[in-house]
Amino acid sequence: MSVDERLRELREKIHLYDHHYYVLAEPLISDFEYDQLLKELEKLEAENPHLISPDSPTQRVGKDLTKEFKPVTHQFPMLSLANTYNEEELLDFDRRVKEALGENETAEYVVEYKIDGASVSLNYVDGKLKTAATRGDGATGEEITQNVKTIKSVPLKLKNYPHAKYSLNNIEVRGEIFMDMEDFKLLNKEREEHGEKLFANPRNSSAGTLKLQDSRIVAKRPLKIFTYYLLSLQNELQKQSENLEFLAALGFRTNKDFQICKSIEEVLQVCKKFEEKRDALPFEIDGAVIKVNSIRQQNILGSIAKSPRWAVAFKFKAKQAVTLLKAITWQVGRTGAVTPVAELQPVFLAGSTISRATLHNIDEIKRKDIRVNDMVVLEKGGDVIPKIVSVLLEERKSDSLPTEPPQHCPVCNSVLYQPEDEVALYCENLECPAQVKGKLEHFASRTAMDIEGLGSALVDLFVEKNFLKNIADIYDLKLRREELIQIERLGEKSIDNLLSSIEKSKKQPFAKVLFAIGIRYVGSGVAKKLSDHFLSLENLQKASKEELTNVFEIGESIAESILQFFGDQKNILIIERLKQHGLNFSTEKKMVAENIFTDKSFVLTGSLENFSREEAGEKIIGFGGKVVSSVSKKTDFVLAGVAAGSKLEKAKSLGIKILSEQDFLKMLESVEQR
Ligand code: IVH
Repeated sequence: MSVDERLRELREKIHLYDHHYYVLAEPLISDFEYDQLLKELEKLEAENPHLISPDSPTQRVGKDLTKEFKPVTHQFPMLSLANTYNEEELLDFDRRVKEALGENETAEYVVEYKIDGASVSLNYVDGKLKTAATRGDGATGEEITQNVKTIKSVPLKLKNYPHAKYSLNNIEVRGEIFMDMEDFKLLNKEREEHGEKLFANPRNSSAGTLKLQDSRIVAKRPLKIFTYYLLSLQNELQKQSENLEFLAALGFRTNKDFQICKSIEEVLQVCKKFEEKRDALPFEIDGAVIKVNSIRQQNILGSIAKSPRWAVAFKFKAKQAVTLLKAITWQVGRTGAVTPVAELQPVFLAGSTISRATLHNIDEIKRKDIRVNDMVVLEKGGDVIPKIVSVLLEERKSDSLPTEPPQHCPVCNSVLYQPEDEVALYCENLECPAQVKGKLEHFASRTAMDIEGLGSALVDLFVEKNFLKNIADIYDLKLRREELIQIERLGEKSIDNLLSSIEKSKKQPFAKVLFAIGIRYVGSGVAKKLSDHFLSLENLQKASKEELTNVFEIGESIAESILQFFGDQKNILIIERLKQHGLNFSTEKKMVAENIFTDKSFVLTGSLENFSREEAGEKIIGFGGKVVSSVSKKTDFVLAGVAAGSKLEKAKSLGIKILSEQDFLKMLESVEQR
């Protein structure tokens, strides 16, 4: 046998054993025998490097770091699912499906687990894995091939190719990459031992792992995959259930627990059964996915905005746990708001150990009658921060203690202030260390200026050493390089990394800067809207209250807070310094081809069937239009949904063009098709 032949034989064998071990969970040989084969393959390849092929099992782990994750355009968009939370909403989904299909059709559904991981798209060309990509915005994702290749349950080569039922030379396979609960706990335990930051849940830990630059580390993480969909222009599959079977035949790992249902009542039963099974499964699911089984029917139903009309998610109720409330402490946030925090007996809930939960405000504590030493019910849904839902009154003991709000700031001791129409308490001392730290941490955080390395520990240290008094000081840190290096435990390398990420942050777009400077009520979504509308800080600063509230989804309190912010000379001085450091305080108008939306102003009223208002607004802005909240002579279109009220009347009286949802869909189609 020639070397080439032996190499091929070894690869085939190892692929087969991998498939049996990782996909089917039915090992064919012992670990020892497997290692012998792998060693032989490695040795032969080392001796004959010109014979190494990219689909060899030895090539799962790359040697180079991924410097940047390149954009990949999906051949088919990666849609997301609309959510349902109860029986009624599920019945509505069934009704919509039946209406759209017409009387002569009967719908059959497939119910699958909704795996709580990170979605991935795998592209196979001529039977070999070519690229793997994240979902991204659904149209374009990021290439993570190097990292995905390390996952042994992802085949590098299709099984039976090209002899399977359909010989498909270009396919996209969609699936979910995740970690089993036990593996996740072990990983976090190790991280704790090494003093590393813990992952909040298996999903974050999977998504985080997929974005690591070093695939050797990824290879050590226990990632797995379940695939649920194959897309190709060449396939003639008739059903989703066939699709799942075909994926398995090609060597993919699929979950066998899916069920075919003849009616929505049956679907509901299965959803309930899945929910009961939830805790017994080795991996996390956050719901069920219901799909119309017939692919012909799926095509009739099509998709609207970003979700298909032929599928829906049924989300399970948030998981709960019971624990002891040990104390209530008060925390000062970056805006000076003083909020109560529940200090809990640590308890494990939905992927992480929880020892603190927010209590929002004193009214909530009173309303729920939450007292120290009570046993409380905790809940955590998805990404949401854990909250206390109720108290187990039957377990209340004589030592339970009601709480009163503090009168002085727990950090700087200044007298707290309570605005007339608010329940929240505020520390008004702008130099209160808690506020200063909070503002700095927020500014540097990943969703704001994304300054890697400037986390809470370093912020605390720099504030204590008086290096940082406000956000503009961050950009002067480079003048203190020598001093910083002297600080024990920091060192030259980490300081240089920090300084270079500070410099890099200057490139963050205007919307991020606007979010980062921390105007009360201006979250990242609002900042984006303001940036799209006003295009520069200068314009925003000049805007009157009316101009502000006229922007889509900007209400009174946001407008007032913006005016107040710019009315404060201290803020203006800080912004001046940031400008001098070269941060972005303006944005270019998005370049979109001239179309019927360009520069037109829209008012939305009533409820739409196919979009949330938010989504409709995003579409309009995306195509160069504007969304304003009140009708005036300057309004170009009023998009009127069901139960539109006074705005519609006003538009009629002013003779403004009124669009039905159908009209709007046609307009969208006309620009989307270009
Ligand atoms: S189907 C149009 N099936 O849930 C089809 N998705 O918001 C969309 N997911 O992004 C996906 N398990 O990451 C589908 N059995 C399953 C799934 C599943 C988990 C994720 C997927 C998707 C998100 C839907």
